[in-house]
Amino acid sequence: MKMMRFYQELISTNNKLAHKDSEFSLGISNWYKKNGRENLPWREDVSPYRIWISEVMLQQTQVKTVIPFFNSFISHYPNLNKLSYASEENILALWTGLGFYRRARNIYKAKEVIKANFNNEFPTKFNEIISLPGVGDSTAGAIMSIAYKESYPILDANVKRVISRYEGVVNDSSSSSIKELWTLSRKHTPLKSIFEYTQGIMDIGATICNTKTPECKICPVHRSCVSAFSTIEKKVISKKINPIKYIHFELAYTDKKVLLFKRHKKTFWESLWIPYETDNS
Ligand code: ADE
Repeated sequence: MKMMRFYQELISTNNKLAHKDSEFSLGISNWYKKNGRENLPWREDVSPYRIWISEVMLQQTQVKTVIPFFNSFISHYPNLNKLSYASEENILALWTGLGFYRRARNIYKAKEVIKANFNNEFPTKFNEIISLPGVGDSTAGAIMSIAYKESYPILDANVKRVISRYEGVVNDSSSSSIKELWTLSRKHTPLKSIFEYTQGIMDIGATICNTKTPECKICPVHRSCVSAFSTIEKKVISKKINPIKYIHFELAYTDKKVLLFKRHKKTFWESLWIPYETDNS
């Protein structure tokens, strides 16, 4: 038998919450206190700067891939002051291999905004943080809740999966589904233990409530989860087939040097260095 769940009305202004904490959020934050992945490098020494860099790297990329890139980035640029002297190229070089290079260009743009508008101090308010290039609602919510311990909701892919299963609602990329999931995420975001809740729901989504083989038995909220122990929804994904594009390069090199060209702005691989591109028709 499913247990009764209690919902509280919430008032939300700019994603800031005012409601009572739910059984769901309490279950998750208590679980995190005992089981959270506290050894992740951005969790070992929490600062707004480190959380910002980690959250941008974690957009579209898994934790295990991000860890060495995060460590290398932080060893080059341990704080905003050091980052403030970096060129776009310096930042792109540290991003090499991580992919989605727009994120690196946005880090460069954002640190310039922080220098120009925030006296080179990481901003403290949600509306300021979300004004930074490359920072959307979920990343701003993660920075507010992890770095500043203020109650703001998040909604990344893992959180969408956990909440949609718990509530038994559709999780696709339609705007109505995303809107509903944001409403539910706001509803469950607690006022207490926000640091533990935010990281706990991320960890549960990445480990226990994974896509293919969720381990409901060890999930702290299975008793009130609508989908617990049921056949996992076959998500109808119209798999986007990415067209293959062949690119031909000519490599000019000596034993010490390779000739590279910098890509123009607003092209694929913008600002990256590549060999001479020959006729690709
Ligand atoms: N995914 C996105 N943000 C994360 C974080 N801070 N910790 C673990 N996984 C994440």
